[in-house]
Amino acid sequence: MSERAFDAAKFYRRSLSLEDRARLPYYGQLIDALADSPVACDLLKEARPEQRNPMLVLAALHYGALCGDEVLDPLYDAIGVVAPEEFASQVVARLEALPELVRDQLHRATQTNEPGRSAVMAAVLRELKTRGVHDVHLIDVGTSMGLNLYPDLYRVNINDHDHDDDDASALSMLDLYGTVGEGALPTIHQRIGIDMNPLDPDELDDVRWLDACLWPEEPERAARLRAALEQMHSWPTATRLKGSALDLIDEVVASCSSAATPVIFHSWVASYFSLNEQRVWRERVMQHVTNGALWIYFEHPLSVAGLRPPPSHIESPRHGGTQIVVSEVASEPASWGWSHPHGRWIALAPPVRQSPSP
Ligand SMILES: C[S@@+](CC[C@H](N)C(=O)[O-])C[C@H]1O[C@@H](n2cnc3c(N)ncnc32)[C@H](O)[C@@H]1O
Repeated sequence: MSERAFDAAKFYRRSLSLEDRARLPYYGQLIDALADSPVACDLLKEARPEQRNPMLVLAALHYGALCGDEVLDPLYDAIGVVAPEEFASQVVARLEALPELVRDQLHRATQTNEPGRSAVMAAVLRELKTRGVHDVHLIDVGTSMGLNLYPDLYRVNINDHDHDDDDASALSMLDLYGTVGEGALPTIHQRIGIDMNPLDPDELDDVRWLDACLWPEEPERAARLRAALEQMHSWPTATRLKGSALDLIDEVVASCSSAATPVIFHSWVASYFSLNEQRVWRERVMQHVTNGALWIYFEHPLSVAGLRPPPSHIESPRHGGTQIVVSEVASEPASWGWSHPHGRWIALAPPVRQSPSP
């Protein structure tokens, strides 16, 4: 986007879906207050283009609080006690007094690693199993800390709005539009994550940044992160590779054993590619699909025009849905439905399966 066309205030205001705005009054007020602040708008413009995202500014402020900033720390602790407007105006006053709090973190990336997306992935993989896919290698592109390399190991609670669960790492799929199948997932053989900056679960600052990328009005997500990190130590080993997916994908697919189908997967990653990178990525991945790989992605269609997202035969049941796109082996990408960006609901509508040739 050209500097002239970039409207930071508008970008802040539109950064939460209507659904999330309604349930997150503190962040809703904060993005409006940031939009009204020329300092906050300038900071967003200072971010490098691929990370010019209001979520990066929100994460930097939250990171300041988690690092014990004398103003932000008590303010974030007071969420639920002070009024949302009060919280937002004081956070922005602190930002305007000390813009370095955000500026010093602009070299980072929004790396939210949302295990809730594994609930969506599990539903897709289960459906693929009914279509004859029994063994896969999972290649998670933009893996962050690798929390979505285990869709077969999380427990998914469906329609449980009470969160009354002693397994904090369980995922909550709060609403289903239609149905998702039951039963086992395909067997996952190799688990490979690729990221420009893979985060290390044993590095305190990496974990703190991941915490900062979460939204403070959702303490259950922070608890789930802790639980998932703890459990991950006993889960099968995964490989995490550092580098751009565009540079690494060919060798990663080539390294997969022939015992299983490589599944190239990404969620909320291609939106950080330039338009040209998206086009190159599509071409590159489709070559692998032609040669026997599967491609699954969860992205917002308006942010990934270069992938040429397929038309959907159903509309997203709620505003701001993430499109679920699947390319079965040697097939063009098809829309399989929609989900909440963090996997809180799903509308899975895979196209009717082609009957196998006689
Ligand atoms: C918003 S996070 C999403 C993380 C994860 N996919 C999830 O859904 O929880 C985007 C991730 O993509 C990574 N990323 C962005 N561009 C990349 C590229 N060209 N190659 C590899 N990783 C990339 C970032 O470093 C970041 O960790």
